[in-house]
Amino acid sequence: MNNIEQTLSIIKPDAVERNLDNEIKEIFKNKGFSILREKKIQIEKSEAEKFYKVHETKPFYNDLCSYLSSGPIVVMILEKNNAVLENRALMGSTNPKEAEEGTIRKKYGLSIDKNSVHGSDSIENAKIEIDFFFRD
Ligand code: CDP
Ligand code: MG
Repeated sequence: MNNIEQTLSIIKPDAVERNLDNEIKEIFKNKGFSILREKKIQIEKSEAEKFYKVHETKPFYNDLCSYLSSGPIVVMILEKNNAVLENRALMGSTNPKEAEEGTIRKKYGLSIDKNSVHGSDSIENAKIEIDFFFRD
């Protein structure tokens, strides 16, 4: 069935720092995702705090926001059938040690915090996150 969706993907600082952004973009394209928009940016910690507000009560929130704003990131709108779930599957588990073979986090993730990619976890959040980075 045709169920085209869009989702937000971020290549996080640990991966951009290792120059893995082009390689990771190729993985998405080879898996059938279209990259509708993309930009390499560095965000302020205050913006990271807004982006990850859902995690504000978690013990890792402060470090997470410092980390996401610590260096350049690549934010992308990905489009594909069932893009939200397909992207989550391709990313793998949050903890790279638990991520399945063939996933981006298994291949590139360094640790549970430096896990190379972000992906929206629902259609609703995908809309919010796309709007956050690509309002114009
Ligand atoms: O990114 P994902 O949706 O898989 O995981 P999350 O539970 O929404 O957590 C958001 C991000 O917080 C993760 O991708 C990690 O970078 C970080 N995190 C962390 O540093 N320590 C944890 N125990 C859990 C998550
Ligand atoms: Mg999440």
